Order: sequence, then C-alpha cells, then structure tokens
Amino acid sequence: MVELTLPKNSKITKGKTWPKPEGTKNLREFKVYRWSPDDGANPRLDTFYVDLDDCGPMVLDALLWIKNKVDATLTLRRSCREGICGSCAMNIDGTNTLACTKGMDDIDGAVKIYPLPHMPVVKDLVPDLSLFYAQHRYIEPWLKTVSPEPAKEWRQSHEDRAKLDGLYECILCACCSTACPSYWWNGERYLGPAALLQAYRWIADSRDETRGERLDGLEDPFRLYRCHTIMNCTQTCPKGLNPAKAIAEIKQLMVERQM
Ligand code: SF4
Ligand code: SF4
Ligand code: FES
Repeated sequence: MVELTLPKNSKITKGKTWPKPEGTKNLREFKVYRWSPDDGANPRLDTFYVDLDDCGPMVLDALLWIKNKVDATLTLRRSCREGICGSCAMNIDGTNTLACTKGMDDIDGAVKIYPLPHMPVVKDLVPDLSLFYAQHRYIEPWLKTVSPEPAKEWRQSHEDRAKLDGLYECILCACCSTACPSYWWNGERYLGPAALLQAYRWIADSRDETRGERLDGLEDPFRLYRCHTIMNCTQTCPKGLNPAKAIAEIKQLMVERQM
C-alpha cells in the first residue's frame, strides 16, 4: 500500500467562528479557507455569518461583505464583478467557478469556499498562477505571420471568424486547469486545458501562418498527450467553453499531418 506523508502545515484545522451580526435573523453561514504565509500556522476554515438583508446575491458579494464588515484581512482577487476578468475564480461548494457569477441561492447549507485546488497559495483565497501564465505565454497567444504586412489589416471571412467562437471567449480564470487531474499530477510538464484551448484558438485562426510550428511546439508526450479526456475541464468552465474538444481537435490535426 502506498504511504503518503503530508507536508508539515498541510492539515486544515478548525478555525475561528466570528460573531453573528446583531439585529437580524436572515443569516447565511460561510466557511472560508484561511492561510497566511506570515504566521507559520496551519491553514484553517473560519466560520462567518453574513446578513443577507445587507448583502447582494452572489458569493463575491458575501466575501466582500465579510471583508468590509467583519475581517479586513480576508484576502481574495476580484475586479470586474461581471464574469469578465476571471480573477475571482475559486472553489465554491466543491466546484471551481467565479465568485461573482455564483449565486448563493444555488448552494444548499453552509457555503464552503477554498482557493483553486492544487496550486500554491499566496494567501487565503489567492492562488499563485505564475506557472499557469507561463504556460499561456508558451503557446504564443498572438497572430504570427510570415507574409508581408497588408496595407490595412489581416482580413478574415465571416465563416473563418465563426470558427473561433467557443475559443476566443476564454477569460483565463484557470477553473479548468485546476480541475484537471492530469494537470494536478503533471502541471510542470502538461500544459493543461486552458493553455491548450488558447493554443487551438490560434491554430484555428485562418490568418495565422505558423500552424506547423505551433503543432511542433505541442508534439510532446506531456505537453498535449497527458489529456485523458476526463472532461472535468469542460464541466467546470464558468463560460460554458469546451477545452476537451479543443484538445481533441489538436490531436486530430497531429494525426492528419502524419498522413
Ligand atoms: S479532458 Fe483533458 S484537459 Fe480536460 S480535465 Fe480531462 S484530462 Fe484534463
Ligand atoms: S476555458 Fe473556461 S475555465 Fe478554462 S480558463 Fe478559459 S474560461 Fe476559465
Ligand atoms: S470579478 Fe471578474 S470574473 Fe469575477
């Protein structure tokens, strides 16, 4: 039997229960992951009670209510509050999603919130996404051409533009990659569904003239072929995209160019 030794400080302890707000009975319980690099303590799960009569309907509203009214040290990322920037991605009620578009009403019982799984934590709900961004950089997410620059613009037919639907909408929230078991175990070598969806977005772009070079960069036992079509990525994407399908399309192109 395999024996695993958990790293020191990895066990999540029962945290602090913060006082209930006074003068209201319309409360919702939240259990929120807390960890600070500054105190050397184990991570803990704090309990908060949010006054629903004083708070918006989304999980992000509740987290900001807690930060503003109960504990200003609670650390999280957010920007747009509209599901556009991707910065508020976290694990809510067992699923990776965006806190700003996840309604509290969709969750039964206490709302449990953790950072995105299997990433180093900077503090509380903020994961370290350095590797994730380096992988995005690796696929060179920009138009690459060899022809002389056109006088005005690189043109594209409506039909070819439509082939990018379902690809260009990715907001790089990392929900998919951090839900992928292959990425958990081989994240240093497997590019993961988010980077591969973006790789395919440029491979599929009729204006790009470096398809062969792009495929060469993915032709490797780990970078692409660690996808085992488990589909967690597609199930969790808060924008309704299908990274698993994009990965399958790249694999298909790899086969076709051998023929
Ligand atoms: S389909 Fe591929 S990328 Fe998506 S979760 Fe499964 S192994 Fe990961
Ligand atoms: S494919 Fe979906 S889950 Fe993955 S990074 Fe893009 S928007 Fe987020
Ligand atoms: S705050 Fe921008 S996606 Fe949630």
